Amino acid sequence: MLGVWWLLAAGAVLWVPGVPGLSNGLARTPPMGWLHWERFMCETDCEKNPSNCISEQLFMQMADLMAAEGWLKAGYKYLCIDDCWLATKRDANNRLKADPTRFPGGIKKLADYVHARGLLLGIYQDVGTKTCAGYPGSQGFYELDAQTFADWGIDLLKFDGCNYGNLTMLEDGYRRMSIALNRTGRNIVYSCEWPFYARRLTKVNYTEVAEYCNSWRNFDDIEDSWTSLKTVIDFTSALQDQLVPAAGPGGWNDPDMLVIGNFGLSWNQEVTQMALWSIMAAPLLMSNDLRDIHPRSRELLQNQEVIAVNQDPLGVQGYRVLKVDSFELWEKPLAGGSLAVSVTNRQEIGGARQFHLSRGMLWKGLACGDKCCLTQLLPTRYEYGCFNETFILQLPVNPSGTVLLRVE
Ligand SMILES: *[C@@H]1O[C@H](CO)[C@@H](O)[C@H](O)[C@H]1NC(C)=O
Ligand SMILES: *[C@@H]1O[C@H](CO)[C@@H](O)[C@H](O)[C@H]1NC(C)=O
Ligand SMILES: *[C@@H]1O[C@H](CO)[C@@H](O)[C@H](O)[C@H]1NC(C)=O
Repeated sequence: MLGVWWLLAAGAVLWVPGVPGLSNGLARTPPMGWLHWERFMCETDCEKNPSNCISEQLFMQMADLMAAEGWLKAGYKYLCIDDCWLATKRDANNRLKADPTRFPGGIKKLADYVHARGLLLGIYQDVGTKTCAGYPGSQGFYELDAQTFADWGIDLLKFDGCNYGNLTMLEDGYRRMSIALNRTGRNIVYSCEWPFYARRLTKVNYTEVAEYCNSWRNFDDIEDSWTSLKTVIDFTSALQDQLVPAAGPGGWNDPDMLVIGNFGLSWNQEVTQMALWSIMAAPLLMSNDLRDIHPRSRELLQNQEVIAVNQDPLGVQGYRVLKVDSFELWEKPLAGGSLAVSVTNRQEIGGARQFHLSRGMLWKGLACGDKCCLTQLLPTRYEYGCFNETFILQLPVNPSGTVLLRVE
């Protein structure tokens, strides 16, 4: 099915067919799960840091918690390994192998463990000669590595782009790995960083990227800070004319991990990330420590109504409609003519400020006719009731916080 998108331009509503994503039947809604990078990075010293090093024990603990504490039930099903899982050399048959000290059971056994809990396992490799952290890359071994992952029972591959050589090798590598994964016959979600690396060298052809990848990174790694979060949001809105039409069922722009539940964001900033990642139809890959997470952050990450905005079957990526007086208004068309709407207060001084939301600011085709029913989903749930054509809501929005609404 073709994705569709709308954009308010010069007061007119444009309706443009979007791009069909990679047709492997996967990621028809944005993938959800957990990825180790932002929180655990490349800690390989298990003697000094046994509980936080990149090891099978860490992933087994996360798998247990994802199954036991409502994460899987909420939709977070991909448990994903990032860089630094590999041994420093391939084996005698050139096959990849995991670091034998930190993953003594090997990846196949870990995949069995994860699958037994109803979860799926993601892994990491790189299109170049070495991964970003310097472990053996896949260049020259795309078919062999794809087959190794399939043999192990891998369900998602994050394919990084360090040490790629030149642009031709980068792009050919991403295409070849996509084809190689397909030929294994196993369902493996393919998460690319192709546009992030190619953007520096050329104009990215998103139509093509979406034909080969289920999701793709466009911008820098996220960090655990409001500054980092803002740069990702601003990059996405600045490029929305390119990015929004590329997204749809089967292929998604990936603004990188959810860092909710860590150290760097205030409560209001956590709400902003959850609201905007849902509006942006972003993959929801948490990077946090599920063994130690504030109940309020857990509740936010597991909010079913907010997740439903992200996972909406229409698969349209939301976009910024308005930037005025240090407020940002975003909207995301949903199936059945509904709309998700967010208002962020980008003023970082003072208290809550009132935003006056009127129907005329929103997508004109709002299918609710003379009866628009509004529910606030974040920061707290509130039923505003139903209105006819004219309404003006006075929304108090906290500094660096966001109000997320659903309009039926
Ligand atoms: C890229 O590098 C490869 C291998 O060194 C070489 O064969 C090819 O000509 C290069 N392509 C471009 C466009 O520079
Ligand atoms: C391989 O590609 C074909 C054609 O796009 C698709 O129908 C099939 O589902 C894919 N198989 C896998 C395992 O990805
Ligand atoms: C972009 O890729 C698509 C699909 O591969 C192709 O049909 C199209 O011609 C490309 N556009 C440009 C400008 O190269």
